[in-house]
Amino acid sequence: MRTLHTAILVLFILPCLGTGYSGSQSRFTSIVSFGDSYADTGNLVRWADPVLPPLPFSNLPYGQTFFGHPTGRISDGRLVLDFIADALGLPFVPPYLGNEKNFTAGVNFAVAGAPALNLTYLQGQNLTLSPPIRHSLDDQLVWFQELKPSLCSRQGANCFGSTLFVMGEFGGNDYLSFLLSNRTVEQTGAYVPIIVDSISRGVEILIQRGAKYIVVADIFPVGCLPGVLTVLASTDKADYDRHGCIAGVERLLSRYHNSLLRRRIKVLQSKYPHTTIISAEYYRPFIAFLHEPAHFGLNRSTTLFSCCGAGGPPYNYNSSSACGQPGVMVCAHPSEALQWDGFHLTDAAQKLIADGWLHGPYADPPILHVAH
Ligand SMILES: *[C@@H]1O[C@H](CO)[C@@H](O)[C@H](O)[C@H]1NC(C)=O
Ligand SMILES: *[C@@H]1O[C@H](CO)[C@@H](O)[C@H](O)[C@H]1NC(C)=O
Ligand SMILES: *[C@@H]1O[C@H](CO)[C@@H](O)[C@H](O)[C@H]1NC(C)=O
Ligand SMILES: *[C@@H]1O[C@H](CO)[C@@H](O)[C@H](O)[C@H]1NC(C)=O
Ligand SMILES: *[C@@H]1O[C@H](CO)[C@@H](O)[C@H](O)[C@H]1NC(C)=O
Ligand SMILES: *[C@@H]1O[C@H](CO)[C@@H](O)[C@H](O)[C@H]1NC(C)=O
Repeated sequence: MRTLHTAILVLFILPCLGTGYSGSQSRFTSIVSFGDSYADTGNLVRWADPVLPPLPFSNLPYGQTFFGHPTGRISDGRLVLDFIADALGLPFVPPYLGNEKNFTAGVNFAVAGAPALNLTYLQGQNLTLSPPIRHSLDDQLVWFQELKPSLCSRQGANCFGSTLFVMGEFGGNDYLSFLLSNRTVEQTGAYVPIIVDSISRGVEILIQRGAKYIVVADIFPVGCLPGVLTVLASTDKADYDRHGCIAGVERLLSRYHNSLLRRRIKVLQSKYPHTTIISAEYYRPFIAFLHEPAHFGLNRSTTLFSCCGAGGPPYNYNSSSACGQPGVMVCAHPSEALQWDGFHLTDAAQKLIADGWLHGPYADPPILHVAH
């Protein structure tokens, strides 16, 4: 039995070594990204100054772990997108609204706060939001359309043949907007199909405009975020699942969203067989971190505890004392923390997720398999 096992392992390993990634050139020469705070590399802070009062994430400790200064990324360091760019030998994807206007190697349209649904629609739903959310998926697609002639000026017909598109994550802000506007989880769940429709329509528009390779990200477990756990705190133990997340949010929003999205991606993939759609996951790795934190080098006692925040255990989240505001502290070891500021993940967690997208098992097919 043992010999057989060894043989199988060796068989699997050898072909991988044979086509080793290092050295061989990736097919991708640029990345075009759409999304929200999970992918924003600086658009919101650019846009907000001077339209909005200074945002907490334009201050340290945002950026402290990797860049040493705030960059507009809502993390202590890099995002999944940064790790992907790096693995493909490309520069970090420049934000569309930033100073760097050379988009030869890619452009990032993602804006923190961006919803999947358009603003006209959301405003019609009587949401009470502060700060207001802007730059929906539709708005980002308009930016893309405007920039497309200059992106394509040199490549001609097969303009996006070597471009990796990344769509999402989208949906998180839509759900948070409803939940934080006093809608019940059940009421919020009614919006899942139109939110997934909007994402799926966005993917189809990219295909129609020439995208050949598109990563579509699912949604993280909304009910496991310290900010959501604080706002929706309940005294009834039955409201929580075995990871300590809000069971109803997980069932009626996160998992429902992801199963619908997976189905829509399958449909699109068979409708457009000449496009490669890569299904990428935030949900499963996040749950794996909660389930077996030590396996990933994360501290088991702080998986639901916001590393940067105030209020103490269990969640260390207080919207009036948010990360980046004066006096708000950072945990001793961000490299062992999963949750950064109540709604976003640490550099360490983003790297773990990116590894799963690049090599598998959290992307199907894994990005590096498509790249080489
Ligand atoms: C734009 O960036 C590309 C690659 O990132 C580089 O080769 C090119 O020289 C740059 N163009 C200008 C005008 O700086
Ligand atoms: C906004 O979204 C709604 C719901 O998805 C859709 O019916 C409507 O056509 C969209 N409006 C605009 C202006 O795109
Ligand atoms: C929004 O509020 C208006 C005025 O109170 C009401 O007529 C409308 O039905 C509400 N729409 C939704 C979707 O709740
Ligand atoms: C939230 O909803 C509850 C129950 O529907 C209602 O009693 C309460 O006034 C609402 N609060 C706000 C701030 O709208
Ligand atoms: C994990 O975090 C807790 C609470 O901050 C701390 O007391 C403990 O020492 C940490 N464990 C390790 C292994 O660092
Ligand atoms: C949250 O922070 C504010 C401002 O520092 C403080 O006044 C309030 O008591 C805190 N709330 C909780 C529940 O700790």
